[in-house]
Amino acid sequence: MHLTGRTILITGGTSGIGRGLAEAFHSLGNHVVIAGRRQALIDEITAAHPGMHGLLVDMQDPRAIARLTEDVQSRFPDLDVLVNNAGISRLEAWDGDAIDIDTTLSVIETNIVGVLRLTAALLPTLGRQASASGRNKGPDKRS
Ligand SMILES: NC(=O)c1ccc[n+]([C@@H]2O[C@H](COP(=O)([O-])OP(=O)(O)OC[C@H]3O[C@@H](n4cnc5c(N)ncnc54)[C@H](OP(=O)(O)O)[C@@H]3O)[C@@H](O)[C@H]2O)c1
Repeated sequence: MHLTGRTILITGGTSGIGRGLAEAFHSLGNHVVIAGRRQALIDEITAAHPGMHGLLVDMQDPRAIARLTEDVQSRFPDLDVLVNNAGISRLEAWDGDAIDIDTTLSVIETNIVGVLRLTAALLPTLGRQASASGRNKGPDKRS
């Protein structure tokens, strides 16, 4: 994968691994778009890195993922890399008499269902790019 000249959407780009990746890709000359739930952090990070953009999304909310998809398709139609980084890790208690599965469901919704929703929504955009990351080029026909 070429690491320059790409247009890269990084979910969870507001902290931790996602923010580190965003800053590293930006410094390599890529057009980086970060997404997360905290507008203040998005503003702070994009202000510190001219040319970087930020969009709001809650990966647990299908409507927010649809809005993010529309924003990306209209503002960054040359998107060719998606980094599905946003995620949560929570302590889950499966002992006791009253087991609360809300925590488990929010982890599944964020880390699995949200990733599937966003990937499915952006695949047509990614598929149009000659250099999309992860694109299945089919079997190598060279002999
Ligand atoms: N660090 C580790 O040791 C480790 C190990 C295994 C896997 N991972 C996975 O690697 C990824 C990054 O980990 P990290 O340690 O960098 O985590 P982190 O510092 O907690 O950052 C998580 C990022 O995900 C975003 N996020 C969380 N829930 C979201 C939601 N519902 N919608 C949109 N964005 C959401 C957060 O942004 P906002 O809060 O601004 O929305 C934040 O930018 C996560 O998926 C994590 O599960 C990490």
